[in-house]
Amino acid sequence: MSALHDLIARLPKAELHLHIEGSLEPELMMALAQRNGIELPFKTVEEIGAAYDFSNLQDFLDIYYLGMNVLQTEQDFFDLAWAYLERAHADNVRHVEIFFDPQGHTEREIPFATVIDGLTRALEQAETRWGMSSQLIMCFLRHLSEEAAFETLEQAMAHIERIDGVGLDSSEMGHPPSKFERVFARAGELGLKRVAHAGEEGPPQYVYEALDLLHIDRVDHGNRALEDEALVKRLVDSKMALTVCPLSNLRLCGVERLEDHPMKRMLELGLVATCNSDDPAYFGGYVNENYVRTAEAVGLTAAEIITLARNSFIGSFLPQAEIARHLADIDAVIASELA
Ligand code: ADE
Ligand code: ZN
Repeated sequence: MSALHDLIARLPKAELHLHIEGSLEPELMMALAQRNGIELPFKTVEEIGAAYDFSNLQDFLDIYYLGMNVLQTEQDFFDLAWAYLERAHADNVRHVEIFFDPQGHTEREIPFATVIDGLTRALEQAETRWGMSSQLIMCFLRHLSEEAAFETLEQAMAHIERIDGVGLDSSEMGHPPSKFERVFARAGELGLKRVAHAGEEGPPQYVYEALDLLHIDRVDHGNRALEDEALVKRLVDSKMALTVCPLSNLRLCGVERLEDHPMKRMLELGLVATCNSDDPAYFGGYVNENYVRTAEAVGLTAAEIITLARNSFIGSFLPQAEIARHLADIDAVIASELA
């Protein structure tokens, strides 16, 4: 293992941008399709993998929504989340903030409770077994209406103690943050954290809207903020964390080559950038793979890799004392590397 691989493997990390439905590996998709008698337009795991050839976000989302049809029972949601948590644990992830898309399931008549019960059972097992902490962020699908988002928030009320935040995902272009201003205001009144995908494909204007109208606590992606100098300054000055997802950006053609990825520039500008996997089953790598391949492609230094790991806790929604504990664990790894 190279020195960089070794450092990345040893560093404690948090993952802050992970769609649990995007961690559905082709093998589990096939197994759940069989278990539940669901017809898929693919016959083999290889055929599924071959379909993952995307030119943009919408190409991916079409297959992502198709894939999630196999998720039917509480056990399915447990199995999905447990498979991800085992991978995250193997990558030395100590804390996860997981997105889920309730509307992707309730639209198919799967009860909200089935989804959240299966996910939280897996998260509790990870806490008990490994001391891995977690939060759950419920995303609104932005291609659906404001009214549908309000209905989803209403359904969530019976489980609100298990939900830490709301997010905004799905097709960005043509669905600006302003469409969800009122539902995010309501989420804020409920004491929920607020995040939104912005600047993944959409223009800097969408990042401004997410900040000014949705009052977000963190930006998901944010790559296109780099096109606007004043916006970069604002994000730096306010220490706003960005959950950047390099292999996702590559597979969805936000960058042509990983060598062109702006991660190093983001760090040099002083942005609180973090490194995450987004939808690892679809984009070819869990969190450590994102760190390693990005570090190799854009030439991250050991100090920049450590900054990414530190930022993952600093940008998390953990209490300050917990953040301090994780940062001390990072310091201990660095001290042992130097010893
Ligand atoms: N849903 C799952 N992954 C997503 C992404 N990268 N962007 C928007 N919506 C998503
Ligand atoms: Zn995402």
